[in-house]
Amino acid sequence: TVGKSTNILWHDCPIGQPERQKLLNQKGCVVWITGLSGSGKSTLACALSRELYSRGHLSYILDGDNLRHGLNRDLSFEAKDRAENIRRVGEVAKLFADAGLICIASLISPYRSDRSGCRSLLQNSSFIEVFLNVPLEVCEARDPKGLYKLARAGKIKGFTGIDDPYEPPSDCEIVIHCKAGDCATPKSMADKVVSYLEENGFLQ
Ligand code: PPS
Repeated sequence: TVGKSTNILWHDCPIGQPERQKLLNQKGCVVWITGLSGSGKSTLACALSRELYSRGHLSYILDGDNLRHGLNRDLSFEAKDRAENIRRVGEVAKLFADAGLICIASLISPYRSDRSGCRSLLQNSSFIEVFLNVPLEVCEARDPKGLYKLARAGKIKGFTGIDDPYEPPSDCEIVIHCKAGDCATPKSMADKVVSYLEENGFLQ
């Protein structure tokens, strides 16, 4: 029995992750980008995907905002729905990593326990947590979608960083710092992640 499913059996196929990884010259993994709204998660995800593509590596982006248009359209921003959002994306990311891809997940993922739940779905070394450490003031000054303004005006309730929590990672693989007026370019942030992937044998 798994959850509510009974009488289910796992079926394996001889063409598995090792064969696919050989074909792709890379090791499947999940690069999990966490940070406040407006911290640059989607920008980094996109720059990283572009950088990997230019080096001949296959990646795929799972973006929180985008997935809420489909797979996760039934979920709100309450803590229990955010947890379910992260759980589902963790499971999908695990499938992409098993397919042999560099799966780039970019979600606020504000709760430590939800992120560590995703980490435990994967072999520890193939879950690479990237914290975009951008102060709230910087994100709020950027306000690319005007959502902070709405949250401050009380028109959005439970907005992360305003009246909803964000728990920064205490122990993650990569931290990218950005202070007011001193932020790395998308390309240099992506390069930092690519170097990590190279040094840890994910790219051949
Ligand atoms: S979470 O917390 O991981 O479940 O969020 P995620 O799926 O990444 O979705 C975040 C995007 O949803 C928009 N949005 C909100 N964010 C935070 N709190 C509230 N209440 C909220 N309502 C809508 C917002 O555009 C987020 O996009 P990003 O790209 O992070 O700015």
